Amino acid sequence: MSQQRPAHRAERLLRSQTAAGWAPCAADDLNATLADHAHCEKKAAASAIALINDYPSDDALVSALGRLAEEELGHFREVHARLLQRGVALGRDAGDPYARALLARVRQPNDERKLDRLLVCALIEARSCERFRLLAEELSRRGEQDLAAWFSRLEASEAGHAGLFVHLARERFGAQADARLDALTRDEASIVASLPNLPRIH
Ligand SMILES: [Fe+2]
Ligand SMILES: [Fe+2]
Repeated sequence: MSQQRPAHRAERLLRSQTAAGWAPCAADDLNATLADHAHCEKKAAASAIALINDYPSDDALVSALGRLAEEELGHFREVHARLLQRGVALGRDAGDPYARALLARVRQPNDERKLDRLLVCALIEARSCERFRLLAEELSRRGEQDLAAWFSRLEASEAGHAGLFVHLARERFGAQADARLDALTRDEASIVASLPNLPRIH
């Protein structure tokens, strides 16, 4: 089985690659990585619902993010079931310094805030997509084919989500969306570079 997999288009949104040491570190303590992963999926669902809550009259956004929230909650349940199979309790959410640093870049005036929230979601999805690919490759090398195939499936789903958030941003903000995406991708790369390799998704 080939261990190098082609990257999804969503990864082209990113300006940097994850450090080579991250995937072995995440695979070495898979229970910790999966517990963090479960919280990531839960927060992805929650942030989609928060967007629905804040932009209720944006019909297309509400429809698309309603579907997305359902998928993310489905992912959460899959990760949780795998944790339970492994005899691991979920545990409390230790927080996510990566997402927090990115969300700190969200500007406050209403329009800018909406644009930035959509783009930050797009980047988090794109980075998750890259990391699921790296983890799938690492697990495949270690003979964990079932887990590797599962992460590859999640990778494809997060790639679709990244594309959806960019689409929603462009549809509402036109060229402004691309200019802002360019700035936020630089910020995202410097945030990723500042974080240590840990058994977590980000
Ligand atoms: Fe997900
Ligand atoms: Fe997602």
